[in-house]
Amino acid sequence: MKTSNSIYYTRTAQVLHWLMAIIFIVAWGIGFYSGNFLSYDVDGSFKGDVITLHKNIATTIIFLVMIRIFWRYTHPAPNLPKNMSNIMKGLAHLGHLLLYVILVALPITGCLYSWSAGHPAPVLYLFNIPQLIDKNPEIMAVVKPLHIYLSWFAGLLIVGHIAAALKHHFIDKDTVLISMTRQPK
Ligand code: HEM
Repeated sequence: MKTSNSIYYTRTAQVLHWLMAIIFIVAWGIGFYSGNFLSYDVDGSFKGDVITLHKNIATTIIFLVMIRIFWRYTHPAPNLPKNMSNIMKGLAHLGHLLLYVILVALPITGCLYSWSAGHPAPVLYLFNIPQLIDKNPEIMAVVKPLHIYLSWFAGLLIVGHIAAALKHHFIDKDTVLISMTRQPK
């Protein structure tokens, strides 16, 4: 991928990053809570309301990630610090690529999961994403575990991403975290 001479991401890239970080973590927490702590037998319609909330928040990622990928290709990212080894730089790029893949794959598998179960994929309680497949238990048997395993993998990736950002800031004391928070004076 192309890189820029500035040490800072553009303001638009920063806003997209933090907005999507908040939405992603909130959606993840609600999905995890519903999937692992609520059951239809005990919690009844409350579980349905929580899943609906999860979907209404998480579907926004589909629109934001398209804008973000467009922005990333038209506005190169800053270079990583010169003192990072090539292996660490390679790992950082791989981690970022996987985060983009997850940002696309999780909402898509989530929508396929909902549709194949015969439910809509609503956005911010405003409208539904046009349903691309009908209710289909065979597809659901594939996309349900896919969505769940991908979400766990996403949780690990995000924890690693946050840990790496904090290490850069507090241990290496370089500009990596600052590049996503500040603008040139
Ligand atoms: C960035 C987007 C998303 C994230 C981070 C995410 C995360 C999660 C997580 C962590 C779970 C719980 C997995 C488990 O059982 O351990 C889950 C479940 C679920 N997700 Fe998503 N998801 C996203 C997008 C979507 C979308 C767009 C839809 C549908 C429109 C969706 C529908 C569901 C459904 C129906 C469940 C099952 C909940 C339950 O069984 O109680 N997800 N998701």
